Amino acid sequence: MGKEMRPDLNTFSHSKTNHVIVKFAVTFLLIGFAFRLLISDSIGFSSVVDTPATKDTKAESPVTALPSEELVSDDSGASESQASHTGKCDLFIGDWIPDPTGPFYTNASCLNIESHQNCMKNGRPDSGYLYWRWKPQGCDLPRFDARKFLQLMRNKSWAFIGDSISRNHVQSLLCILSQVEEAVEVYHDEEYRSKIWRFPSHNFTLSVMWTPFLIKADVYEDMNGVSSAEIQLHLDKLDEKWTKQYSNFDYVVIAGGKWFLKTAIYHENDMVTGCHYCPGKNLTELGFDYAYRKALQLIFNFIVHSDHKASVFFRTTTPDHFENGEWFSGGTCNRSVPFKEGEVDMRDVDTIMRNIELEELDKATSLGSGKGVSLKLLDTTRLSLLRPDGHPGPYRQFQPFAEDKNAKVQNDCLHWCLPGPIDSWNDLVIEMIVNGGKYR
Ligand SMILES: *[C@@H]1O[C@H](CO)[C@@H](O)[C@H](O)[C@H]1NC(C)=O
Ligand SMILES: *[C@@H]1O[C@H](CO)[C@@H](O)[C@H](O)[C@H]1NC(C)=O
Ligand SMILES: *[C@@H]1O[C@H](CO)[C@@H](O)[C@H](O)[C@H]1NC(C)=O
Ligand SMILES: *[C@@H]1O[C@H](CO)[C@@H](O)[C@H](O)[C@H]1NC(C)=O
Ligand SMILES: *[C@@H]1O[C@H](CO)[C@@H](O)[C@H](O)[C@H]1NC(C)=O
Repeated sequence: MGKEMRPDLNTFSHSKTNHVIVKFAVTFLLIGFAFRLLISDSIGFSSVVDTPATKDTKAESPVTALPSEELVSDDSGASESQASHTGKCDLFIGDWIPDPTGPFYTNASCLNIESHQNCMKNGRPDSGYLYWRWKPQGCDLPRFDARKFLQLMRNKSWAFIGDSISRNHVQSLLCILSQVEEAVEVYHDEEYRSKIWRFPSHNFTLSVMWTPFLIKADVYEDMNGVSSAEIQLHLDKLDEKWTKQYSNFDYVVIAGGKWFLKTAIYHENDMVTGCHYCPGKNLTELGFDYAYRKALQLIFNFIVHSDHKASVFFRTTTPDHFENGEWFSGGTCNRSVPFKEGEVDMRDVDTIMRNIELEELDKATSLGSGKGVSLKLLDTTRLSLLRPDGHPGPYRQFQPFAEDKNAKVQNDCLHWCLPGPIDSWNDLVIEMIVNGGKYR
């Protein structure tokens, strides 16, 4: 993939004067490795939970040890009173603060961690990244309470819909919940990319659905992400894989994102209308932003007009943290502490994507207001941007330096270690469900 990209990029840059488009193409290059990971990591997602058992949670579960109400705020009272001046607190603006409590689970207490994200087991030497919690400016985010969650979700069904980041997210939830009740896997597709779990004693169903574009896409790639033809993307058709099942879900966490940066031929009304990054094809370069906006409009339109009223959370784009190079030139992410607000800038591609997400979601929510539609923003982009320390890096594979401490290994600076900062995304979701009205 990478080898072929560079000459392509050169022709592309010379033939175009539009710097914005070139910038998109460069950005595409930068995160190309991420695409590989998005696809190839799915092979590892195959651990099958076939022995449901009631678990002794006494030792492992901080949930039982620390009810959320008892959390002590270690922030100054100043920001609290500030919040009462300005009204509601914004859950998505804040800082990561040290928290000695540590994670809900470990590689030993959660057996469902995908091997590429099992940083502890794979031998990541530092553990400081596990001792932080998200502190919204002006309020406190309670720690996830798995018992309370499962009680609330009796007879309910959840789905995470999207790409491998959505799968990363569902595994975090699965690990947290498994400290109270072990999940039983009741379905997986051939590639182990879509799965369904049941929590029998709570009659709770959790699904993850693989549909990286959310719209109809013909993808010609093998499991290692090697592509044999351009993706054909139908900008006016949703992926029926999720829309057909939509009415089965009470709660949905849906996300789009990085796959839209790939080379793709765009179709509308069953006609080719253009493409993104397809030099030599004599097609109009429409830009990934064009396609992403069309896709989101279609998705939100479906949700707003569906007779089925689910509680939907739309999660925003995920930043990666490749440094000292890019995915193809030895980029790494070996920081061990979070950034502070202001220490890092969002990449253009994330800014563009997030802006489209915010704009289209805003339009959709005003369209849906008064119609019983629950469509909420789960804006994890900024808080995730502050966590360069939360990725597997080289520890996406087991003991990468066991044989050669200078070994050159692929780094994953896009997905998140489990446990890791992605666990906080679930703190946010449950807080929005329980106390949504308190926040902006
Ligand atoms: C968990 O990781 C530690 C290393 O941090 C390792 O010693 C242990 O064997 C792992 N346990 C499991 C069950 O993977
Ligand atoms: C769950 O469903 C069962 C059977 O339909 C019903 O008896 C029970 O009241 C329901 N519980 C909740 C919390 O909805
Ligand atoms: C489980 O929940 C479903 C609704 O999602 C309900 O129809 C069913 O009766 C429940 N089963 C039990 C055993 O509570
Ligand atoms: C490119 O497409 C345009 C319009 O479809 C056409 O007029 C032109 O001849 C094409 N150029 C090449 C090199 O095929
Ligand atoms: C992080 O990686 C860079 C090279 O990519 C290296 O120069 C630096 O020493 C590393 N830092 C640590 C703490 O390993």
